Amino acid sequence: MIIVTGGAGFIGSNFIHTWLEQTDEPIINLDKLTYAGNPENLLVFQGDKRYSLVQGDIGDRTLVTRLLTEHRPRAVVNFAAESHVDRSIHGPGEFITTNINGTFHLLESVRGFWETLTTEAKQSFRFLHVSTDEVYGTLTPDAPPFSETNPYEPNSPYAASKAASDHLVRAWHHTYGLPVLTTNCSNNYGPFHFPEKLIPLVILNALAGKPLPIYGDGQQVRDWLYVLDHARAIIRVLESGNVGDTYNIGGNQEKTNLSVVQTICSHLDALRPKTDGSSYSDQITFVKDRPGHDRRYAINASKIKRELGWEPQETFESGLKQTIKWYLDNQQWVEHVTSGDYRQWVQKQYG
Ligand code: NAD
Ligand code: DAU
Repeated sequence: MIIVTGGAGFIGSNFIHTWLEQTDEPIINLDKLTYAGNPENLLVFQGDKRYSLVQGDIGDRTLVTRLLTEHRPRAVVNFAAESHVDRSIHGPGEFITTNINGTFHLLESVRGFWETLTTEAKQSFRFLHVSTDEVYGTLTPDAPPFSETNPYEPNSPYAASKAASDHLVRAWHHTYGLPVLTTNCSNNYGPFHFPEKLIPLVILNALAGKPLPIYGDGQQVRDWLYVLDHARAIIRVLESGNVGDTYNIGGNQEKTNLSVVQTICSHLDALRPKTDGSSYSDQITFVKDRPGHDRRYAINASKIKRELGWEPQETFESGLKQTIKWYLDNQQWVEHVTSGDYRQWVQKQYG
């Protein structure tokens, strides 16, 4: 069996869906259930013997050690993190606690368990750390996309905390021999994406007749990857990645924020036309820029393609259509996540 952390969040829950579609190997999800963790993402697995959720913190060594010794997983996949850049600007403390200290405690718990294994089990064990392209900083318009050898130049508190966690993972391999793998992925989108992030926020604000906030001039570039392609990439790295290596994962789909928002509006115009005949793009509103806003991210994913045979199955067009359809079809999920704490966040960030 394997243990994932942060599996009730956006990418982790899509990973669990992909995992259980492919295999009967059991999976335990250790998740603190912060505002971003939503057990409803995994409702279809209620009563499924292959899946269980344990509410807890990756920094709780007693709990993590108990889980490891009781269940004896062959791998731990670490998704758990505070993940939203804007929140890291308002309050970086939680990012240091979970992304840095939490990863440290998790590594120590896993190392303690791993050291009790037989030589053979030690060799086949894996700790896979899920990280981000933001650790590499920002690119100028003509610079080549980030490869695994780019220097780390994180610019936001979120990116700095993820960079620190990557360094810890690297050190636990070099110093203690823990068999680690690290993945650095570009921007994901798809089902179960919490609507504080650009794509789900714009879909839901558009349908609610609210402004579609674009930071600054909207010419910042992100490299978008459909979340199920990311889940498939992580499974490939877990199966066949070279121990101690990092793998960059990206969609090769660079888009400006403004063009992403305009594309969402034109899909919605076709799928859910407004009664007054106007376009959703009339709701686009330019707002104050994010402090320290990185201008461009782009990933060179040639290593994972060459060594592990992974490449994305979805284009931005095909993935975005499925995503918009998912939000239109899952009103109940939307209603549940957009109540309570979420409203307070929107008020604080957008006024
Ligand atoms: P998310 O915010 O949707 O989910 C994070 C999950 O971690 C939540 O379920 C939350 O409850 C849980 N969690 C938070 N703190 C915890 C703790 N201390 N102990 C246990 N669980 C805790 O994030 P996401 O977008 O699914 O991202 C998952 C991982 O992938 C993160 O490490 C993130 O840095 C990385 N990543 C995200 C993207 C993206 O575009 N979203 C891209 C590349 C990498
Ligand atoms: O690159 C990978 C990263 O992608 C992950 O590591 C992060 O966890 C994930 O949140 C994401 O970070 P971004 O900051 O790129 O994503 P976000 O959806 O917050 O913003 C995407 C772009 O859109 C960014 O340039 C900021 C802009 N934006 C965002 C919001 C929420 C707006 O213009 N308006 C908005 O309201």
